[in-house]
Amino acid sequence: MASTWLDFWQRENEFDESMSTNFNYFLERVETHIPLAKTNRVLDIGSGPGNLEDAWHDRVAEIHGLDISKRYNELARTRHVDSPNVFFHDLDPNDYLNFSPVANRQFDVIIVMSVVQYYRSIGEVEQLLQLIKRVAAPGARALVCDLMVGESFLSDVLGILKRSLLQGKLIATLKLLVRLRFSHYHTVRKENGFLVIPETEWLAMCERVGLKAQFINEPITLQQERRNLLITF
Ligand SMILES: C[S@@+](CC[C@H](N)C(=O)[O-])C[C@H]1O[C@@H](n2cnc3c(N)ncnc32)[C@H](O)[C@@H]1O
Repeated sequence: MASTWLDFWQRENEFDESMSTNFNYFLERVETHIPLAKTNRVLDIGSGPGNLEDAWHDRVAEIHGLDISKRYNELARTRHVDSPNVFFHDLDPNDYLNFSPVANRQFDVIIVMSVVQYYRSIGEVEQLLQLIKRVAAPGARALVCDLMVGESFLSDVLGILKRSLLQGKLIATLKLLVRLRFSHYHTVRKENGFLVIPETEWLAMCERVGLKAQFINEPITLQQERRNLLITF
């Protein structure tokens, strides 16, 4: 049966547990580029199970997560039932660039972590950049992270293995890779692939949209060959 990434994220999947390891790595590095303040309003596009909200909810004024996965949003709402400044909004999977739940808001920090590779086209990503521009407050910073910019899937996997070895987590990573090979993930990846956008195309899109953007030099996510784009307003 044909399946898309949109379907994939609605179901329980192999990343439910492993995502937080990757996220901790990111958390240890992100504040070099995104200094946080107690007054910050944060938008987390593709918020998943709510890892960013877990880490930042008591350090900022409010956080809004947007996700196409009702399953993740329900999980995240349950986790944050006692956090009055945390909100999770459902995006329509068939209209995921409709940001009406946050259309009248402004944000000081916007994070898009490991999400755009599941978009359907570059045109949609350019629309995402326009939406980010629309909701960014003066002085805001947006970080679009974990971007696949041209390396092959194999080099992505080799990068993960190398990093896991250095962190003493090689066995756990190998187990995850084997599970993935025989899972729904493998089928969905084969059928849909990932959206890969070269760095030059990212920068050209930002210029067309009128955004001041640059790639961060050092890796800030576990997949070291993936790139991270910082946009300043
Ligand atoms: C790899 S997870 C990352 C979750 C979270 N950002 C993190 O790093 O912990 C990808 C997330 O993007 C969401 N997603 C996929 N396509 C999306 C889209 N078009 N719009 C919004 N969210 C999307 C999925 O439901 C999933 O929660």
